[in-house]
Parts: sequence; structure tokens; C-alpha cells
Amino acid sequence: MASDLKVRWPQFKFEKADLIWEENPEVSMEWNAMSTSAPIVEPWLNRVMTRCRKEIHESRPDLKADIDDFVRQESNHYRMHESFNVFLEQQGYTIPKHFDEEFEAELRDLLKTKSIAFLSAYCAGFENYTLFSSQFLFEDARDLFKEGDGGIGDLWLWHFAEEYEHRKVCHDVYAHIAGNYFTRVYGLVYSFWHLSKHVNRRIKHFLELYRASMTPEQRQASEQRHKAYQRRYLKFFVPRMLQILIPYYDPGKAPPSPGLEEALGRYTAMSEPAAAAA
Ligand SMILES: [Fe+2]
Ligand SMILES: [Fe+2]
Repeated sequence: MASDLKVRWPQFKFEKADLIWEENPEVSMEWNAMSTSAPIVEPWLNRVMTRCRKEIHESRPDLKADIDDFVRQESNHYRMHESFNVFLEQQGYTIPKHFDEEFEAELRDLLKTKSIAFLSAYCAGFENYTLFSSQFLFEDARDLFKEGDGGIGDLWLWHFAEEYEHRKVCHDVYAHIAGNYFTRVYGLVYSFWHLSKHVNRRIKHFLELYRASMTPEQRQASEQRHKAYQRRYLKFFVPRMLQILIPYYDPGKAPPSPGLEEALGRYTAMSEPAAAAA
């Protein structure tokens, strides 16, 4: 059985990109730092979903097919982020090795010590975060994320358009395997806390690198711009977060944001068919 997800592999090239790809440099640095998390988190999501697949009842081949394409989409995401992260390193934006090691070790520990119900609830929580971020990109922040800006705007728009597309896979897997409301909320809250802890230290590190040669006045202006962006993001994000707490919340019902389906069409047209099917 085929899923409704489409696996795309558009080829973005970053060698001509400007790391400050947005007029607001702090926004650029925040999202550049987030890119360094993708090759750690997304393979882990795939490992959890692959483990969950073994627990799916034979009567749900649709869910198994969804997991298969979810894994393919996420694999393409982190492979493309790895390519961008090499470019970041070439420009001097390197994440300290122990940041990666600690993040990976904690995720490994979760795999060893937590139940499949908790692990799938963690994944569902994370996928809600990416759904809301997709809505932020397409509904609120089109002034920030533009196609054709050396590949970086396209990288995020493609990635988060597909996050919208597979928004309900982990949620449905969790509902099939466990479904308990309290475990879902626990996994959700835990995933937000855990991921924020690791992502925020990366953002702080990149902003420190960016601000290294600034005068006190420039630094103050930079901090103010960043705070203004964070307020904008939270204003969009927090009301959406609260709706996840409703017992019958279903991310599958979220309508596509304006322009999202057109973007998916463009990225399908840009894809290399052989790699997309891999
Ligand atoms: Fe992804
Ligand atoms: Fe995802």
C-alpha cells in the first residue's frame, strides 16, 4: 500500500549562499544553528518509528506505509542539512563536539530506558513543533524565508512543507500503539523541554560567534533584534501549542497554509527521481 506522502529530493547548492541570508542576521543565525540539530534528531525519529513499525497491527498497512515514507522524507531532510552544515563549518560556524555528544547520548539513553509509548509520544510532540513551525514559515514569516536565496530559504521551505505533509504520522502511530492522553502530554512536554535545551545552546553559541567582534552598542542592537524576533515567534507559536492539550487534538485536521501546496509542487519538479525513491 502506498502512502499519501511524496518523497522529494530537490538539489540545493549552498556554495554561493550568504550565511546572513535574512535582513535580520539573528534570524539567520538562529535557523543556521537549528540546522545543526537535524542530523541528530531526525535519524533518531526514524529509529523510533522503525521500532514502532514492528508493533503496528497487520490490519493497518496504511500506517506502515506512512512510516516508510516518513523515514524517507526525514532521511532526505537530514542529508540535505548535513550538506548545509558542512558549508556552515567552512565559514567558521562549528558546533562544539561535546554539544553533539551529549545530545546523542541523551537520545540513546531514551531509546534504552523508555517505553515505546513514551518514545512515540516524544516523536509526536516533536512533529507538532515542526507543524507549527511550518505554519509560521508559510503564514507569518514569508518576509524572512524566500525561495532562491542561495538555497537556504528553499532548504527550510522544502523541509517544513514536508513536515506539514507528514504531520500526523507520529501522532497516528502513537494513537495506535498507546493512545493514552496523559502519556501523550508527558511525551509532548518532555520533547519540548529536551529539544529546547539542546537547540537553544546551539543558537546561543552561533550568536556568540556572530557577535564576537561587535562593539557594545552593536551587541545591544543585535540582542534587541533577536528578542523582537523571539517575541514574534512565540506570539505565533504559544496559542497553537495550547491546542495540543485538547484530548481529541488531531494534527491531521490542520489545513495547508497558503502557498504550501504550490511550494511542494515546485520542489517535486526540482527533485531527482532516482534519489527521491531511495
Ligand atoms: Fe524533517
Ligand atoms: Fe518531521
